[in-house]
Amino acid sequence: MDIDEALAGMATGRFPAGIYSDPGLHELERERLFSRTWQFLAHESEVPRPGDYVVRRILDDSFIVVRDDVGKVRVLLNMCRHRGMQVCRAEAGNASHFRCPYHAWTYRSDGRLVGVPFHADAYGGDAGLDRAASGLVSAPRVDTFRGLVFASLDPGAAPLAEHLGDAAFYLDLYLHQSEAGVEVRGPQRWQVDCNWKIGAENFSGDSYHTPHTHVSVVDIGLFLEPKGHKRKEGALWWAGAGGGTTYKLPTGDLDENLAYIGYPPEMVERMRAVWSPAQCDLVGQRGFIVSASTAFPNLSLVHNWPRVQPDGHVVPFISLRLWQPLSSTRTEISSWFAVDRGAPDWFKEASYRAYVMSFGSSGMFEQDDVENWTSITSVARGRFAATVALDSTMGMAPGGGTLRPPLEDWPGPGTAHIGYGEYNQRHLLELWAAHLRDDAQHEGQAR
Ligand code: FES
Ligand SMILES: [Fe+2]
Repeated sequence: MDIDEALAGMATGRFPAGIYSDPGLHELERERLFSRTWQFLAHESEVPRPGDYVVRRILDDSFIVVRDDVGKVRVLLNMCRHRGMQVCRAEAGNASHFRCPYHAWTYRSDGRLVGVPFHADAYGGDAGLDRAASGLVSAPRVDTFRGLVFASLDPGAAPLAEHLGDAAFYLDLYLHQSEAGVEVRGPQRWQVDCNWKIGAENFSGDSYHTPHTHVSVVDIGLFLEPKGHKRKEGALWWAGAGGGTTYKLPTGDLDENLAYIGYPPEMVERMRAVWSPAQCDLVGQRGFIVSASTAFPNLSLVHNWPRVQPDGHVVPFISLRLWQPLSSTRTEISSWFAVDRGAPDWFKEASYRAYVMSFGSSGMFEQDDVENWTSITSVARGRFAATVALDSTMGMAPGGGTLRPPLEDWPGPGTAHIGYGEYNQRHLLELWAAHLRDDAQHEGQAR
């Protein structure tokens, strides 16, 4: 497969299958994409108290995400400044200090080096080894959005808000359902033999697969959606660095629509209080509710409402997930359950049950999806198959432009189309290709 040729042709919606298997592309992704963009690491609710930490990574760099003594969340490189030992060996916990296993240099939870054995004898004190200059190194850039902690390995990365851009309008519908914001449980982590882009693309806009791939969960009555005709009525939105799918709810107002998918009145009240008029209009009068989406490059969200209550009622859940490439054909998935902090306890429990049944390592949707994605990846490993063009042209008009025009009165930012189409998959891959081509201005380039 000719990488330059493949990257140049993304806008046509036709590209070789090898983009899901080529090891050379994986190396380019590491260098030009994952070393530069913002990467989601953790949610602040995972480290609620001073000293709470979780260990996460970007590519091969391990970071300690820790809340320090004064409540600030820090992202510290998990590498001792002496000889490079991994300082924190646990995945999560609470600690006032991190002591290196090798020679016992000791760091406080804010990263300061506070203990060096035989500091005076061995180094001549701070004149020889300046402890103030030898603390754990922070990630080059750290920023948050609605409690989501992101970091970038690139000191020159544009601010996170600029990177997300108008996608924030839609992300809020998942993450900002009250002033309190969400809390998360998890993550569940597992590895899958598939290329990371397949999942990211699927969540960004593949409403076309759900009626077929997930037919069994509808057949047994566990999910009201996704039925083919219902999915087709939904809108696909793309804004800033993200895109996603929506369902069309029965015509009603905000209260009726959110009640239809299982939100209790008290939660609806809080949403009404924090959502903008345009956000309320989108979900209320217009009846579009967010389903799956992806924030470029590899953070996805999902919102659905299975029937999990003994009385047959539906309960909605929200989940976040990260697709981290381990190789061109292997991905580590991390999946979190998210729920509004102010939600009643019964809702949190029922919503968690809804999540576990649907997504995560044992979720029914998850199992249906992954068989497709591992198969695509495995087929794309073939030397010949890798060179054959796949088709992502759905929704493109034969002579250029789109088959159906974007919605003119769509209340949200960006563009939206009703019906099936691979607009978002193309946006995502165009952005991906722009990074790999090293275009000077790739942020916000895809429209
Ligand atoms: S490597 Fe950490 S104290 Fe020596
Ligand atoms: Fe799916």
